[in-house]
Amino acid sequence: MILCANFKANKTRQETRAYMAVVESFVFANEIRDTVIVFPPFTALEHDPRNVLIGVQNAYPALKGAFTGEITLEQLDEFDVKTILIGHSERRHILGETQEEIAQKFRFFAQEGFVIVYCVGEPLEVREAGDEALMAYVDAQYVGIDLTYPDLIIAYEPVWAIGTGLVPTNDQIQAVHASIRAKTSAPLLYGGSVKVENAQEIMALSNVDGVLVGSAALSASDFCEMIAQATELTTKGE
Ligand code: PGA
Repeated sequence: MILCANFKANKTRQETRAYMAVVESFVFANEIRDTVIVFPPFTALEHDPRNVLIGVQNAYPALKGAFTGEITLEQLDEFDVKTILIGHSERRHILGETQEEIAQKFRFFAQEGFVIVYCVGEPLEVREAGDEALMAYVDAQYVGIDLTYPDLIIAYEPVWAIGTGLVPTNDQIQAVHASIRAKTSAPLLYGGSVKVENAQEIMALSNVDGVLVGSAALSASDFCEMIAQATELTTKGE
């Protein structure tokens, strides 16, 4: 299983240090073999990774240069960050990233060998328009994306489920994951209002290889609880 915590624009550097200390020691003490990735804000990327990977929530696709307000590969290298989140719905819808820009980021960071957590997902009006519209919408989010990239992880995150407490039914999650699975062998995460109460049930669904968690992962103890749930499933399946 793969468990990701996306802090978004939450937590200071101090808070992130305290959080990482808790999660690192939990993963170490419990000999967790599942993959754990934390995406803190830029200001808190520093980390001496032992058992938990650190990823960046966004970056500009260049080595360095005149890109005011952005960070690039040179700054990420300094922190030894080799994992990136691309295509998150907040970047698509709030920050206005186009599919073309997203694909450009994907190509650049794939060429640099990054682990890429690539997000797809539909807004509510598309979900309400039916399955065909939904899959056509998600398909358009693959334009320019190499689905055979070996370090690709895909996160299916319905926009209407992010930060809302609304979660698709298990059947709905499985249906979308099955259709993504038909296109790629990359691990598939579900994201959108995952919390301690529903994480294990979701992770047990077919074609779900982990979760991408926002608000509920801001609590280190809750995130650790979800890691424990994943490990329980992994051990059962062995
Ligand atoms: P949420 O966010 O868990 O707060 O819904 C998930 C995400 O945006 O990755």
